[in-house]
Amino acid sequence: MEIAGNVALVTGGASGLGEATARRLHVAGADVVLADVNDTGGRAVAADLGDEDRFVHCDVTSETDVAAAVDNAARRGRLAILVHCGGGGTAGRTVSRAGTPHDLDVFRRVVELNLVGSFNMLRLTAAAMAKNEPDAGGERGACVLTASIAGYEGQIGQVAYGSAKAGVIGMTIIAARDLAAMGVRVNTIAPGTIATPPMMMVPEAHREVFAGNVPFPKRLGQPDEYAALAEHMVENGYLNGEVIRLDGAVRFQPK
Ligand SMILES: NC(=O)c1ccc[n+]([C@@H]2O[C@H](COP(=O)([O-])OP(=O)(O)OC[C@H]3O[C@@H](n4cnc5c(N)ncnc54)[C@H](O)[C@@H]3O)[C@@H](O)[C@H]2O)c1
Repeated sequence: MEIAGNVALVTGGASGLGEATARRLHVAGADVVLADVNDTGGRAVAADLGDEDRFVHCDVTSETDVAAAVDNAARRGRLAILVHCGGGGTAGRTVSRAGTPHDLDVFRRVVELNLVGSFNMLRLTAAAMAKNEPDAGGERGACVLTASIAGYEGQIGQVAYGSAKAGVIGMTIIAARDLAAMGVRVNTIAPGTIATPPMMMVPEAHREVFAGNVPFPKRLGQPDEYAALAEHMVENGYLNGEVIRLDGAVRFQPK
């Protein structure tokens, strides 16, 4: 699908993977709308892309916020691209070393943000895309979700986050099938360890261990490497219902 001339809604666009993707899609000629709960960061990136109005405050778990963000994007033109990066996690074992069970509300909140938020974005954006005129390839839209390799082999302490991301992985083929009749594709990126702000807050010694565990190249991934794959997923019309790991061949060990 052509990127130039379409509107791209990028969640989590104020930082990290979303910001890198917003910048890349902007260069490729998309009219980018950034949706995030981080107003200061979102406005700064939007202004950098030439227009503060590109930013819309949006909690991806809120039906009204997402409906308003989708409306805002669709009013600008043909909303045909979604890259959903808004998310994040907390650490906690199923039962702590001291014998305390994982807080159930914390588990629910992580699932709400990462899994329910992904579905909320997908369902409302795809409903708007379904109204697009199809392009020459019959496409009305392309959606990219963000899982994590923790959704395959989460480490000790990642039970909430890994469960939520496993849900995103599982959703991908089903949503692609659901939306096939509308000409909307759905693909997911499962990143390994990428050098975004949350990762850069981890002590350097830990980051060196993460980097050293990557078979090749022995370093953290760069946000623009995620953005490049997201861009390709949008452009490649035969890529659908797929989850691609972006991790330098690392496989998480239990800890
Ligand atoms: N960086 C990594 O190594 C890595 C690895 C695997 C998966 N991921 C996933 O990639 C995505 C992006 O992470 P990142 O590393 O760029 O982190 P980041 O913190 O730099 O960016 C995440 C953005 O999401 C926004 N956000 C958080 N909650 C939100 C909500 N409810 N509604 C809207 N926006 C919200 C934040 O404000 C932030 O701007 C997340 O889903 C994360 O789980 C990251």
